[in-house]
Amino acid sequence: MYCYYVNKYLIAFTVLTIRLFISFTDVFPLKDVVLTIEPKVVQRFNHSKLRCSYDLEGQDLYTVKWYRGRFEFYRYTPSEDPSTKVFPVGGITVDVNNSNSTQVVLRDIEFNLSGNFSCEVTTDKTFFTRDDTQPMLVVRK
Ligand SMILES: *[C@@H]1O[C@H](CO)[C@@H](O)[C@H](O)[C@H]1NC(C)=O
Ligand SMILES: *[C@@H]1O[C@H](CO)[C@@H](O)[C@H](O)[C@H]1NC(C)=O
Ligand SMILES: *[C@@H]1O[C@H](CO)[C@@H](O)[C@H](O)[C@H]1NC(C)=O
Ligand SMILES: *[C@@H]1O[C@H](CO)[C@@H](O)[C@H](O)[C@H]1NC(C)=O
Ligand SMILES: *[C@@H]1O[C@H](CO)[C@@H](O)[C@H](O)[C@H]1NC(C)=O
Repeated sequence: MYCYYVNKYLIAFTVLTIRLFISFTDVFPLKDVVLTIEPKVVQRFNHSKLRCSYDLEGQDLYTVKWYRGRFEFYRYTPSEDPSTKVFPVGGITVDVNNSNSTQVVLRDIEFNLSGNFSCEVTTDKTFFTRDDTQPMLVVRK
């Protein structure tokens, strides 16, 4: 019983120490998560490419999640089969053939998709997460 608790606290303490060491030495192993929407101003029914670039700093990728507002519409998880998942969000049509770990192509874009889009990157095992958000505007022809 005594040993069990000692081990449990020792492990928690070790994990905390590693985390603190990482934050003090500023080697947060994930940086430069940048979302680029091209074009940012898109005509209704056209397509737009959302690119998410990131520096994993030698870590493995766990997942990249894509959101419009709070709603996730696409997820890339290399360790899963299939590695891509599309979630139905009204008005969003994902071109899966042109979407991968770093980009998502949206087709037949509806007016009501104007708003904020985000990509959120998480590293494998360490589960560090960073995200970026950019607005997209849908206009009349
Ligand atoms: C919309 O699509 C047309 C034809 O594919 C293209 O010529 C035009 O530049 C696009 N406009 C925008 C704003 O994306
Ligand atoms: C956008 O409009 C379509 C119908 O044109 C609807 O199905 C969808 O739910 C709407 N999406 C949002 C995010 O409001
Ligand atoms: C995507 O690729 C598959 C296999 O290459 C093809 O059968 C399908 O028609 C493509 N879908 C689109 C929307 O282009
Ligand atoms: C994703 O697809 C685009 C376009 O096909 C390609 O340029 C890019 O290299 C791909 N990214 C990866 C990580 O495979
Ligand atoms: C988009 O994000 C900006 C900055 O974070 C915020 O000010 C704005 O209200 C957001 N727009 C929507 C439609 O949520």
